[in-house]
Amino acid sequence: MLSLGILGSGSGSNMQAIVDAIEDGRLDARIALVLSDNPSAYILERASKYGIPTGIIDCSPFRMKFPEEVQEQTAMKLKEAGVDLVCLAGFMRLVKQPLLDAFPSAILNIHPSLLPAFPGLEAWKQAVDAGVSESGVTVHLVDSGMDTGPILGQEKVPVLPGDTPESLHARIQISEHQLYPQIIAEYSKRLKP
Ligand code: GRF
Repeated sequence: MLSLGILGSGSGSNMQAIVDAIEDGRLDARIALVLSDNPSAYILERASKYGIPTGIIDCSPFRMKFPEEVQEQTAMKLKEAGVDLVCLAGFMRLVKQPLLDAFPSAILNIHPSLLPAFPGLEAWKQAVDAGVSESGVTVHLVDSGMDTGPILGQEKVPVLPGDTPESLHARIQISEHQLYPQIIAEYSKRLKP
């Protein structure tokens, strides 16, 4: 069975969707470890409720940087936990070489837009500001760029008249919660046939 490591900085609703998919048999995996760079992130509390081991990625004093030595420690923690596939779920720092090299073609990310449109922060706000009628969700492999790795799956989400960034994000999250576990299940078959 595939062992997942999840990295998140926020509420962890995507982690919850992965837990739900495992519990109802849509995803044959276990979550071995949840790590966060934000000690007060709700994702850690959610994970603990399910008895999933958690840990902190200590990037202080940096607000956005993910220092190389911290990436190395993170890779070590994930390896020690027996992780096969790393899933970024609202993780707000850029993953670079030491961690990428430790998990070649085995780090996934979920991004709240139809990449390559609207990479980077608050993609839902970017979509509303751009006045597009459609946005969506992308699951992709992580490379050293920002939201640039090979795309594994996408789902369109309409932008409705009167949408605010918050209302669009809420609609996008509904799609995220369906798409991420589904793509993880499909991709894990390619990792462990
Ligand atoms: C999601 O919208 C994800 O696409 C983005 O950050 C948000 C994380 O939400 N990268 P959650 O922590 O999974 O609830």
